[in-house]
Amino acid sequence: MTEFTRVADVGDLPDPGKLLVEMDGDPVALFHVGGSFHAIDDVCTHDGGPLVDGELADHTIACPRHGAKFDIRTGAALSMPAIRATRAYDVKLEAGGIFLRLREASAGPVSQPSAAAVPAAAAPPPAASPAASTNAPTAAEPAAATAAAGGDTATGLAEQTLSEDLIREMLKEVKDPELFVNIVDLGLIYNVTIAAEPADNGRQVSIDMTMTSPACPAGPQLIADTKRAVGSHRDVGDVEVRIVMEPPWTPDRMTDAARDQLGIF
Ligand code: FES
Repeated sequence: MTEFTRVADVGDLPDPGKLLVEMDGDPVALFHVGGSFHAIDDVCTHDGGPLVDGELADHTIACPRHGAKFDIRTGAALSMPAIRATRAYDVKLEAGGIFLRLREASAGPVSQPSAAAVPAAAAPPPAASPAASTNAPTAAEPAAATAAAGGDTATGLAEQTLSEDLIREMLKEVKDPELFVNIVDLGLIYNVTIAAEPADNGRQVSIDMTMTSPACPAGPQLIADTKRAVGSHRDVGDVEVRIVMEPPWTPDRMTDAARDQLGIF
């Protein structure tokens, strides 16, 4: 197990308060709330936002970029668009200093109460509670999601009269590989245009699509899957997919169906 490292003085952080510190070269967000100190990586797992600059409410910090929320006691992701926890640290107070140690993934939280805290406030929160409220899908969900996108349904749609609504329906077979929710319900499809006149190989379809973040690693796969899904229609020729970042995607673009799937209420 790694040693604790001194990162700040206790007097540096009022209650409530937050402070950016450094630990082995990594930025760490340090918090003092309700008499206890907590620390998590200062990196939003959605797209690298600086968490310490976000709004702190009780034991929740909101990423200033797109609003994902994290539990400062465990690093658990509590809301979209983040789905993965950020790393958490154990905290120790000694000789007026605040010491941190990267928490092992399976360990429960160890957060050091300040000297002024009453014993009842020092009890760490149960590890299972915040983790249970994350929106991360279980390992079983990808298989279930894939099975739901039945080939028979796709084949049936490919035979129907071409329209914008039909294309949006066909695009529901394309799922974000991290969230396992289809790109239509996620609100990633902005515009669908079908050429009035067919070319030699069929009618051209142009799709304006966005991503949940500019650096979304799933981008190339989503573009390829979109072209494949729409291109399977008997009357479609070329499929053009344009990635647009304006207006930027926000969680309120999701449908209720997507919210249900992700456990957001
Ligand atoms: S970078 Fe944090 S929510 Fe997008």
